[in-house]
Amino acid sequence: MKKKVALIGNGQVAEKVHIAYYNTREDIEIVAVVGATEENVKQFAARHNIPSFYTNAEEMYLVEKPDIISVCTPNRFHFDNVMQALKHNCDVLCEKPPAISAEDAKKMFEYAKQKGKILAYNFHHRFADDVTELKNKIDQGILGEIYFVKVTALRRNAIPGWGTFINKEAQGGGPLIDIGIHMLDAAMYVLGYPKVKKVTAKLFQKIGIKKSEGAFGSWDPKKYTVEDSLFSYIELENGGLIQLETSFALNLKLDAREKTIMNVELCGDEAGATMFPAEIYKDDKGELVSLFKREAADEDRHTKSMQAFVNRCLGGNDRLADGEEGYSIQKLVETIYQSAEKNESVEL
Ligand SMILES: NC(=O)c1ccc[n+]([C@@H]2O[C@H](COP(=O)([O-])OP(=O)(O)OC[C@H]3O[C@@H](n4cnc5c(N)ncnc54)[C@H](O)[C@@H]3O)[C@@H](O)[C@H]2O)c1
Repeated sequence: MKKKVALIGNGQVAEKVHIAYYNTREDIEIVAVVGATEENVKQFAARHNIPSFYTNAEEMYLVEKPDIISVCTPNRFHFDNVMQALKHNCDVLCEKPPAISAEDAKKMFEYAKQKGKILAYNFHHRFADDVTELKNKIDQGILGEIYFVKVTALRRNAIPGWGTFINKEAQGGGPLIDIGIHMLDAAMYVLGYPKVKKVTAKLFQKIGIKKSEGAFGSWDPKKYTVEDSLFSYIELENGGLIQLETSFALNLKLDAREKTIMNVELCGDEAGATMFPAEIYKDDKGELVSLFKREAADEDRHTKSMQAFVNRCLGGNDRLADGEEGYSIQKLVETIYQSAEKNESVEL
């Protein structure tokens, strides 16, 4: 019997990632989509041959009785939709970030555990082969003691013009909660979730309130309420340091071909590494020597993340970005925002 999937949210990630993947599986059937407005969701369902559409999720659960839910709404609605899906005994793949607050992310994780249901987040970058291979080598000790990590999620001028990405109330923040969180997740994952001791951060809202056009469309600067760049030092209990740089817009000379730079660099006392494409290197008498190198980064990350989730729903043992890890990253993001907003370091 095919597993019945319903989508909550009918935007670009639902279409390009979730539906695109579910349609490749013979053991999955998309039965319904829930959207905010009837006209919109009706057209979306027709475009994707989805048999039913709803604007009321509760009604959808009662009629369709789905097994699996994809939550693809703006961030503010993740919490309610995940809790409702779990209440109806569904396995859930929720888009990142888990929620707006750490308290909510904790409740989501605890409720999934109580219900014995799968709760996963689409932190897809960590499903790249680069990350898997790098983590294996880190776990083997090739880098030695890792004491400095640089996390980068920078765009020069690519504020998302669609959806609600410039609205703090809907999203919980700007580049940190939207793209920085991806690279923070990948970094914390390969490091094995080290305990955080102290966070110091500073955010800026300088460009989004002034400009109105960029590589990702146009926006109304009067409605721009999120940060456009944020920088943070995250001190770890093991003595290590993570430096985070993230922006939607920043007058920085990035490689001309790149609209976005997403990467993690790790410095150990034996060797260093770059995540995308994965490479491990060390110094030999002043020369940089490569110990391991992938020619190109694995770009098939969304498919692998989706595949892992569906496999788990079908009884497989695939590794997921689970509810507990989602809570841990949400807590870190919340603490970074707290530090930036208070303009002082926050101890955990
Ligand atoms: N993993 C990734 O790389 C990735 C990429 C893009 C977006 N996302 C995440 O996916 C989510 C959606 O982003 P998007 O780019 O698709 O945005 P979007 O604006 O294109 O789509 C959001 C959709 O949700 C609908 N919606 C709003 N409120 C709703 C509600 N209460 N119930 C049901 N539907 C509702 C909107 O009408 C819209 O169609 C965000 O949380 C975002 O962070 C993740």
